[in-house]
Amino acid sequence: MPDLGSPLSRFTLPREGIPADQIRDLMDDASTGDVEWELGRVAALVYMAGEDVTQVSKEAYLTGFSTNGLAPTAFPSLRKYESDVIDMVSGMLNAQHAVGAITSGGTESILLAVLIARERARKRSPHITSPTMVLPETAHPAFNKAGYYFDIEPIRVPTGAGYRVDVDRYEAAITDDTILCVGSAPNYVYTMIDPIPKLSELARARDISFHVDACVGGFFLPFVEKLGYSRIPFDFRNPGVTTISADLHKFGYTAKGASTLTCRDDEIGSYMGFHFADWPGGSYRTPTLTGTRPGGAIAAAWAVMNYLGEDGYLDRTKQTMDFVEHLLEEIESIPDLYVVGEPDMSLVAYGSHTLDMVAIGDAMQDRGWFVYMERIPPSIHLMLSPGHAPFIEQYLSDLNEVVELARAGKIERKRDEIKYGQ
Ligand SMILES: Cc1ncc(COP(=O)(O)O)c(C=O)c1O
Repeated sequence: MPDLGSPLSRFTLPREGIPADQIRDLMDDASTGDVEWELGRVAALVYMAGEDVTQVSKEAYLTGFSTNGLAPTAFPSLRKYESDVIDMVSGMLNAQHAVGAITSGGTESILLAVLIARERARKRSPHITSPTMVLPETAHPAFNKAGYYFDIEPIRVPTGAGYRVDVDRYEAAITDDTILCVGSAPNYVYTMIDPIPKLSELARARDISFHVDACVGGFFLPFVEKLGYSRIPFDFRNPGVTTISADLHKFGYTAKGASTLTCRDDEIGSYMGFHFADWPGGSYRTPTLTGTRPGGAIAAAWAVMNYLGEDGYLDRTKQTMDFVEHLLEEIESIPDLYVVGEPDMSLVAYGSHTLDMVAIGDAMQDRGWFVYMERIPPSIHLMLSPGHAPFIEQYLSDLNEVVELARAGKIERKRDEIKYGQ
């Protein structure tokens, strides 16, 4: 159970309302401890593509601020935005006849994909009573959440050499009860695209659904490829891929509360929606897991995608890839550090065979960087977007100094647990 604090210390509804200017001051006070993301102090959670993009997003969000995607007949604008966004995403993911929806975020897209796979299997393989899903151990925890909600056992397959998916072990984990196989593009932890062509083929040969978690890479990897970098094709070009999640609110640079779930065709998409009519209120139909859907997030997604266009995404991807290459070279040039795996985009994890990485992470945190760490191997993790460019030299300078201190035994670890997303 979460700690809700003592009832005596609970905040109470003010008897009289507080004037708007004071509300602003109170909120400024409340946010003094928040990480200074505008200064590049966190490489996760926030995705910066420039003040112009933020302005477009904010203005569009406000136009849809009060609107509700639950009722497309009341708000045909939202129906148009959603349909346009899914069309554009389908094109980016090389789909021919895809259908899909905007969800509230990567986790909801993943939940929906797992639900689709379960319902599809119930129809096509009704003999399966204890369904499993097979996923690399690097897959996002949202899959276990989906397993918990929808009663599907997740089978996590350990990675092999070079932190890559061990395809043989993955294949061995697939049984007659498997209803879904999963790969990520890229996976968060080791920053690489899983071998989607091989994994999805294993699924296709057995007529099992295959989901690509491109929550992180969906709006970045298509442009990496267009820029001429050679990368594993992760999208619908693989005939076994049935669904793909791609987050708008990450490298799509749109407002928070928006992701996409795309299904290869109508048959797969037909398991996505929910319909219930047997109550006095009349027919209730939703395409995703939620009821009310924030019109602002949908409007902002449409506006930012159209504002940036392919050229805008290409520019920002190129800019990011350039400074990430520089960052990787600099990290590799520090004798005690190494880069984990071979990053396929702008996610970077680095560790040390000789120094205490947790102590290094804590010392970087003391210097004002909000540090995300990983457990295995102990490493610092970065998700870099274009807006981080101006802060890379300062980061490297601090890192060099902290590594010096670690060599001299002058820093100690402070955190006793490595947490993700808290
Ligand atoms: C690979 C991957 N998939 C899914 C998610 C979940 O996305 P969200 O936090 O939007 O629910 C994340 C979050 O970082 C991720 O890195």
